[in-house]
Amino acid sequence: MKNVLVTGGAGFIGSNFIHHLLRAERDVSVVNLDALTYAGNPDNLQDVADDPRYSFAQGNICDAEFVEGLLRERQVDTIVHFAAETHVDRSILGPRQFIETNVIGTFTLLEAARKFWLQEKTLPLESVRFHHVSTDEVFGSLAPGEPAWTEETPYAPNSPYAASKASSDHLVRAYGHTYKLPYTITNCSNNYGPYQFPEKLIPVIILNAMEGKPLPVYGDGQQIRDWLHVEDHCEAIHLVLKRGAPGSTYNIGGENQPANLTIVETICDILDEIHPESPHKPHRNLIQFVTDRPGHDRRYDMDTHKISTELGWRPRHSLTQGLLDTVQWYLSHPEWVTAIRQKHEYQGWMEANYKSR
Ligand code: NAD
Ligand code: TYD
Repeated sequence: MKNVLVTGGAGFIGSNFIHHLLRAERDVSVVNLDALTYAGNPDNLQDVADDPRYSFAQGNICDAEFVEGLLRERQVDTIVHFAAETHVDRSILGPRQFIETNVIGTFTLLEAARKFWLQEKTLPLESVRFHHVSTDEVFGSLAPGEPAWTEETPYAPNSPYAASKASSDHLVRAYGHTYKLPYTITNCSNNYGPYQFPEKLIPVIILNAMEGKPLPVYGDGQQIRDWLHVEDHCEAIHLVLKRGAPGSTYNIGGENQPANLTIVETICDILDEIHPESPHKPHRNLIQFVTDRPGHDRRYDMDTHKISTELGWRPRHSLTQGLLDTVQWYLSHPEWVTAIRQKHEYQGWMEANYKSR
């Protein structure tokens, strides 16, 4: 792992991963390929912008010529593929971009890697790796008491987002099977932590609560996600890159499965505690049950036995401490928050998603 191409590195997990990699590896060069969609934010990488090991290339993963040029120019040996459209609610209101980026974009990257690594044989095959970052949502939804998903569980994606990620996973596997492209895939549960775009549950709740706005809980709030701190996710991906067997997939999960309502109430309690003078106290009074998401998955749960026994990975963050740190991160980065929230696109999205609920 010398010359790493990170796609989607200006987003939430990608930017945390770049920070992690530059901290963990001394002799590594990282190029961040990102289209800077609404979710991409160069501010996330401000503190590494001057690091000579880091560079930024603005471009679209669907642009084959651009991607191939970058692989060749940087002699890329490792691709860590985060770039995607990621928000389920947006995929319900407008699925097309999810097919473009998540399916066609992944296909374009795979083709570029096949050409550069397998056809032109530019680098020794044992030194290259295509790592695809995917989600637990490809497995569908669990009923109460059903066992957690393993790497062998058949895919049953329910939302356009999940279906587009499932398609991209299948393409990666197919390139491994047919062309012998050395790949790994990780399917991860819901992440939280610094730099998460404020359209997802946890930052929406933190920011609304701070301002005394309603806290929108979809349906009965009893849906269950398996929450993982983003740093734990980054450590897991790094480990898979170093020690994961080519052709393998690994489940990653947080071993934390509270209902959404519990997450929201915990954030309220944290704010009550650290902001005792807040006029919005008790923040729980701001909770508002709103119309459910169509086709809302009820429960996710990841069996992480494989990654823990094969690679020795386990999440290090407790949800209690991780949520407290995350609330404090948003409180201490008002410029980051304001820069996003004053954008027209963001305001338009919040209006479109919440107005009619
Ligand atoms: P994000 O929405 O915060 O960031 C996505 C990034 O991809 C942005 O920087 C955006 O500009 C970039 N991008 C989008 N389309 C692009 C294109 N066509 N070309 C180049 N760049 C493009 O996403 P995230 O939450 O950081 O998720 C990253 C990856 O992790 C995704 O593949 C997602 O499916 C997966 N994942 C996320 C979670 C989660 O809880 N956030 C959980 C499991 C898996
Ligand atoms: P989200 O953060 O959008 O992630 P995902 O849909 O990928 O799991 O949502 C997490 C859970 O929170 C999900 O069950 C939907 C729910 N949710 C709300 O109840 N209110 C909200 O405003 C949002 C954004 C999500």
